[in-house]
Amino acid sequence: MHAIAWWQHAIIYEVYPRSFQDSDGDGIGDLNGILQRLDYLVKLGVDALWITPFYPSPMADFGYDVADYCGVDPLFGTMRDFDRLLQEIHSRGLKLILDLVPNHTSDQHPWFLESRSSRDNPKRDWYLWRDEPNNWQSNFGGSGWEWDEISGQYYYHSFLKQQPDLNWRNPMVRTAIFEAMRFWLERGVDGFRVDVMWLMIKDDQFRDNPPNPSYCAGQPSSHRFLPVFNSDRPQVHEVVSEMRAVTDDYRDRVLIGEIYLPIPQLMTYYGKNLGGTQLPFNFQLLQASWTAEALAAAISEYTNALPAEAWPNWVLGNHDSARIATRVGTHRARLAAMLLLSLPGTITLYYGDEIGMTNVSIPPEMVQDPAEKNEPGIGVGRDPERTPMPWDGSPLAGFTNGRPWLSLGPDHGALNVVNLEQDPESILHLYRSLIALRKSHPVLVTGELQSIDAANNALSYERHGCGERLRVILNFGDAPLAISSESGEILAATHPHARSGQASKLMQLGAAEGIIVRLRN
Ligand code: NOJ
Repeated sequence: MHAIAWWQHAIIYEVYPRSFQDSDGDGIGDLNGILQRLDYLVKLGVDALWITPFYPSPMADFGYDVADYCGVDPLFGTMRDFDRLLQEIHSRGLKLILDLVPNHTSDQHPWFLESRSSRDNPKRDWYLWRDEPNNWQSNFGGSGWEWDEISGQYYYHSFLKQQPDLNWRNPMVRTAIFEAMRFWLERGVDGFRVDVMWLMIKDDQFRDNPPNPSYCAGQPSSHRFLPVFNSDRPQVHEVVSEMRAVTDDYRDRVLIGEIYLPIPQLMTYYGKNLGGTQLPFNFQLLQASWTAEALAAAISEYTNALPAEAWPNWVLGNHDSARIATRVGTHRARLAAMLLLSLPGTITLYYGDEIGMTNVSIPPEMVQDPAEKNEPGIGVGRDPERTPMPWDGSPLAGFTNGRPWLSLGPDHGALNVVNLEQDPESILHLYRSLIALRKSHPVLVTGELQSIDAANNALSYERHGCGERLRVILNFGDAPLAISSESGEILAATHPHARSGQASKLMQLGAAEGIIVRLRN
């Protein structure tokens, strides 16, 4: 594939380092563990790793509470381990994307310790201090304001009280974070995934948010108000373009934004003249209902809304959302893989989804996630999708020699990489072959997406370009379906019996089955 940047044709693989591979027996994954598994990723065919935070941190939010932007937490290794990992990643032709957490620091970050030390400390204004709280809520439950005894004011935190929000209106904050970005860019990282990009700037008048008329009891408390004044403020785009200017100072880097907003607002993050984030994460596949009709609508709405020349992307799973196999049912996990890998643009895969991992239920006394601890039992916990990767059928699944920080899934004896490797019909082999197909048929990456259609719970669409026409047909229903297709060659099928051969005018597609057909031109 030529003429497009690496990140445009990339399949990005998200590694949650605590749960990927432990190399030192403490039950928590680490950088050297990732190193041990690089060849597995090469074989899978992905192009880039995004590693969630491994910086020094008290781990109140498992690394999303950063105490030093330019270091490695001893739990995960050393800077030397990092450099070696990066070098080994690059030597395999892969790229590395780091997680940048600019909205907030840890309350143990030296900047915050200084800021809270007195009202006239030069770093006081690096955070959001007020005499009186307003009604802004924390995303992890309760008021977003915490009283500080030491200096006699409240500070704002969008997440835990151990994660005070930085004041992005302060130019010194910008400079400090941009310096941290440069630190890693100089070391050779290929880009950043920016945490909660749309939350970075808040209303300078600290106006109260309006009540949410559709709030119901039992929902997270942050839903009580509409986040009008503490999210998606117009000034955030200035910050994003400044961040982009930092990455643009280096060759071939990418800036990805984590943004949970409706499509029209999401699109604004591409920025004026596409000078914002190159990839505002598209979470349509995380949020749409899993029917052909809903997916067709979500896919069309997204692609129709893309600004001219803006590059599409698709995310199937992440460390904050239920596993895809749990969301759609294990019987449809193969269909999800085919959908994901036949859509245009950049793809993001969550570790373990390629082996069909499901959510693991964590008993209350074992819960780790602060979101669940703060608001138990309402479904906000994220431990179930963060459990250790099962590599083999041994008691600790080849993940660790110690006590895993989160339980392994009860099915890891059967569902593990070694077993699935041996079964040519496993979901792992399906992922590999779909990824290989995507590489050998660039139309899947760059081609036009056309004729999106949903009927009888079957979703179909065509991909045109590079001298080819492919038709994707996915049966989301629970019953076999007769479909009519232009005839052509079946390039891929979710299930073995349909693989290879010719698509004929009228054919049967089993429940939860999908095929990709190369149509005769
Ligand atoms: C989004 C991250 O993905 C999530 O895991 C984290 O808890 C919050 N941001 C706060 O940083």
